Amino acid sequence: MLKGLIFDLDGVITDSARYHLAAWNALAEELGIKLPAKASDELRGLARMDSLELILRYGHQENKYSLAEKEALAAKKNMAYQQAIKKMTQADILPGISELLEQAKTNGLKMAIASASMNAPTILKQLGLLKEFDAVVDPKTLSHGKPNPEIYQKAQALLDLEADEVISFEDAASGVAAIKAAKQFAVGIGDSQVLGQADLVVSDTSQLDLTKIVATFKSKKV
Ligand code: BG6
Ligand code: MG
Repeated sequence: MLKGLIFDLDGVITDSARYHLAAWNALAEELGIKLPAKASDELRGLARMDSLELILRYGHQENKYSLAEKEALAAKKNMAYQQAIKKMTQADILPGISELLEQAKTNGLKMAIASASMNAPTILKQLGLLKEFDAVVDPKTLSHGKPNPEIYQKAQALLDLEADEVISFEDAASGVAAIKAAKQFAVGIGDSQVLGQADLVVSDTSQLDLTKIVATFKSKKV
């Protein structure tokens, strides 16, 4: 029986994913690295240092910097990102999300955030949504990033639920892979070719219909 919903944040609750990408693209350019178009999808969902490593690999620079230098590069990206998200408000909640959260609450569903971002609490506060969630996973407590299932398992544990009692929402292929590895029902938001592993894919958040999602959840044994 469905008892809870687990959400990624960037690209699901709000479009902060574009600020992450813009900040990474700026850093890549500075390092003289030309990222292929597919890097945008690959970077979605990846933890901060995993994202930097991916970018450096594209530039064949994975052995060029010391750990301290890499940390400085990641901190530089984070400063640009934090500058960009400063102006976010309630108006930046993606279409259909407020309605979905409201409906879930009315139906007594528990809710958690499973974001790899250390900036997630700041964004949730700016969107006025921090109090809507029963739990927010702290990525600092995790050993592995997405696509490892750890973050979704942690969110589920914080809600005190079983894998077959939750539905999880993601915009990244790495995130959908994490949800499926956690044996949960996955709703993908975005391109169905990229998110093919999900149990259900919608093109954008305005297409999220809890009644329909629950019907598919009930008809499908994960
Ligand atoms: C994820 C984003 O939610 O958080 C990634 O999809 C990002 O793009 C990751 O790299 C880590 O975020 P932060 O804010 O801790 O650097
Ligand atoms: Mg995301």
